[in-house]
Amino acid sequence: MKVYIKTYGCQMNERDSEAAAGMLSSLGYGITDNEEDADILIFNTCSVRDQAERKAIGKIGILTRLKKRKPGIYIGIMGCMAQNRGEELLQELPHVDFVIGTGKLHKLPEILAETIKKRNRQLHLEEDHGVLTGMGTHFLGTNQISAYIAITRGCNRFCSYCIVPYVRGREISREIGDIRHEAEILVGQGIKEIMLLGQNVAAFGLGGDINPPPPEVSPFADLLAELNTIPGLKRLRFTSPYPSYFNDKLIRTMAALPTVCHSLHLPLQSGSDHILKAMNRHYTGKQYLEIAGKLRSAMPDITFSTDVIVGFPGETEEDFNATRAVMNEVGYDNAYIFKYSPRQGTAAAKMEDQVPQEVKEQRNQILLDDLARRVAEHNSRLKGKIVEVMVEGPSKRNSERWCGRTSTNKVAIFDPSDGMKSGDMVMVKVNRTTAMSLFGEVCAIPEEKP
Ligand code: SAH
Ligand code: SF4
Ligand code: F3S
Repeated sequence: MKVYIKTYGCQMNERDSEAAAGMLSSLGYGITDNEEDADILIFNTCSVRDQAERKAIGKIGILTRLKKRKPGIYIGIMGCMAQNRGEELLQELPHVDFVIGTGKLHKLPEILAETIKKRNRQLHLEEDHGVLTGMGTHFLGTNQISAYIAITRGCNRFCSYCIVPYVRGREISREIGDIRHEAEILVGQGIKEIMLLGQNVAAFGLGGDINPPPPEVSPFADLLAELNTIPGLKRLRFTSPYPSYFNDKLIRTMAALPTVCHSLHLPLQSGSDHILKAMNRHYTGKQYLEIAGKLRSAMPDITFSTDVIVGFPGETEEDFNATRAVMNEVGYDNAYIFKYSPRQGTAAAKMEDQVPQEVKEQRNQILLDDLARRVAEHNSRLKGKIVEVMVEGPSKRNSERWCGRTSTNKVAIFDPSDGMKSGDMVMVKVNRTTAMSLFGEVCAIPEEKP
């Protein structure tokens, strides 16, 4: 039987889909990226914004026709929307066979087998900590050089706008030894770069405490140092950290470890102190800038990306301008700007003074324009410079040219040299830049890092 898995939402969800594909393929199921070819269609869903839910429901809704044409297929929903709307999904979508919440993903093979055997509909939403250890399988593509490892699940922060703590449960961390083992297996299979994942990664190993630790305590820094010693692992990245967890130890460790990339996703959400407070984000604009400043002093070439929400309840023009000012000061190289979307059950959904949609649209556009200008300018400063690039492979737009990424997460496009392969480290002299990419030529291959 062939399985098609479609993913919505964040990298944590992408990783869950990959783990699901890994589990099912090890049991003999085929994995296909063509839904027409599939006997089982699984939708791994997201609830973070209303639009994310509507997109998935729309897509699953139109599959009624496919199921009429091919009554033998199975359709399942997993992930955050499954957790959020469980029963309701089975009622509203009569052609759906199973719904699996975020705490039960590791049970997917059993649940699927039951559905097939009994030909009845299944709903599984209970929390089960086995999900933390039961999801370590991978499903790698050929020539894949980068892989995800989930190091924590859930979130304890309860930012007032956010549904994640409700749909993913309380934060739990894996053991360092387990993570190292998973990383070693991946490196043995040709992986050169690992992206560590968690809703609040830098809180790793702190036992779910929402208070950021003192300056010299950071189990997350210990994890980075441990993974840095794996022979053959060239790069470590991670996402997403909550700003207040960047203490001195973590910053010093990041700067000292050769594998840790100098690009950081550091969610700002807002630059206005009173909006940050209403969001239950425990830092001020000034404190955020101090953290970014410390990171930049330790790693002068570091690039930052961020998440920002426009139109949070009560956001005035002045609040918005405070966000714009912090963004200009940090000088992000990428930013995901979201229009606030009320989520039922969260504290912010009950707040008065919701911002009109057209104001959200305007603010969104202003920030996107600021960003595009800034990134083009940042990239143009790299003209004439030599940058180190990890080779990914032929570029999607023009397969005669190859692409790769710098440690600072810039895409570089160049002509491949003889014998070049994915995962190689090369030096590229940049001779042209756009807001999207750096264009250049390979100059010399540096010595392998230990
Ligand atoms: N754990 C991650 C974020 C996960 S959600 C972190 O804290 O960095 C990804 C992003 O979606 C958030 O950073 C936030 O900017 C955005 N987001 C979350 N809830 C939202 C909502 N209700 N409306 C609009 N954007 C939202
Ligand atoms: Fe949501 Fe905040 Fe947790 Fe991120 S830290 S997942 S924004 S509650
Ligand atoms: Fe969405 Fe769940 Fe991720 S709500 S953003 S898929 S944790």
